[in-house]
Amino acid sequence: MTHRVINFNAGPATLPLSVLEKTRDELLDFEGTGMSLLEHSHRGAAYAAVHAEAKSLLKELLSIPDDYHVLFMQGGASAQFALVAMNLLDGGSADYAVTGTWSKKALAEAKVLGGGRVAFDASAGGGGFTRVPKQEELDLDPKARYLHITTNNTVAGTQYHYIPKSDAPLVADMSSDILSRSLDVSKFGIIYAGAQKNLGPAGVTIVIIKDSLVGEGNAALPKIFRYRTIVDGDSLQNTGPTFPIYMVRNVLQWVKANGGAAGMEQRNKAKAALLYATIDGNADFFRCPIELESRSLMNVVFRLPTEDLEKQFIAEAAKNELMGIKGHRSVGGIRCSIYNAMEPSSIEKLVGFMKDFAAKNG
Ligand SMILES: Cc1ncc(COP(=O)(O)O)c(C=O)c1O
Repeated sequence: MTHRVINFNAGPATLPLSVLEKTRDELLDFEGTGMSLLEHSHRGAAYAAVHAEAKSLLKELLSIPDDYHVLFMQGGASAQFALVAMNLLDGGSADYAVTGTWSKKALAEAKVLGGGRVAFDASAGGGGFTRVPKQEELDLDPKARYLHITTNNTVAGTQYHYIPKSDAPLVADMSSDILSRSLDVSKFGIIYAGAQKNLGPAGVTIVIIKDSLVGEGNAALPKIFRYRTIVDGDSLQNTGPTFPIYMVRNVLQWVKANGGAAGMEQRNKAKAALLYATIDGNADFFRCPIELESRSLMNVVFRLPTEDLEKQFIAEAAKNELMGIKGHRSVGGIRCSIYNAMEPSSIEKLVGFMKDFAAKNG
């Protein structure tokens, strides 16, 4: 049997084993065509079916309304930081709720274009990014072109558990929690997400955009940077990341077979509850720095009594084949990323290890 460890990496992240196996089995001869999908034309029938299925599965699983487009783009979520501002600012300004590393970067790109305004800064008190704002804490500009939020803060370990309201369209970076729970897409103007956490491998970015925001396309932008171009080309205006999109299709099939968004939500809530209960239940040894209402179900962060114990914890976890739990270099501590594909049984193994370690070292 192939050797597989438990992989808590933040992204690229663990993928369902059955998806990897299917991808392996189809690699050399895709559906009897005698070619790998890697070798198929992006305009040929074999790939066209995959492209269409990936799109329709996402529409189905997220109940995406008909007046939205699903796009497959490149450049990661980072390119969307710039593209959202390039396409939507139109000489105006947009509001940004700054809740972590990634929303800071998104804001910085809007500022390059002269239009980023801080509607909330979770680090303002000096204590780091330990929560997301409540609705009433958002300082909204009535003339804002959009409000930008990061629904799950991968580095900080915080997540919105409500959808903020604004008169301006809501733009959400959902890179680290897309399809992890049921979602009312109609509340958003644009949702974007790099695939490499919940949806597949790195190399493709999913964009869900309301038709009214696509408009005619900003004529001041080169065509390839206009959402209009990607919509009109059905994401095939140039040679796209065919293989990552194929793997996203496979992951979406797996999500569907495992209860869809509601099934993922149930599974994710149970996994996170077990992990947080273990942290809170051993409060003299483990401590989660995140405010209760903002705790992420995707990236669970916690601290041990000392940094030396944290180092030892990470090293001993690795000996137990629990990999990738070191916190982001900017915040330290421990971070366990437990996206959709993380099996509940793996969380049980992790909490068993945590309890043993606390008993021996507490
Ligand atoms: C919430 C969030 N936004 C944006 C990014 C950047 O994504 P990319 O590397 O696809 O540009 C990440 C990456 O980890 C992320 O977690």
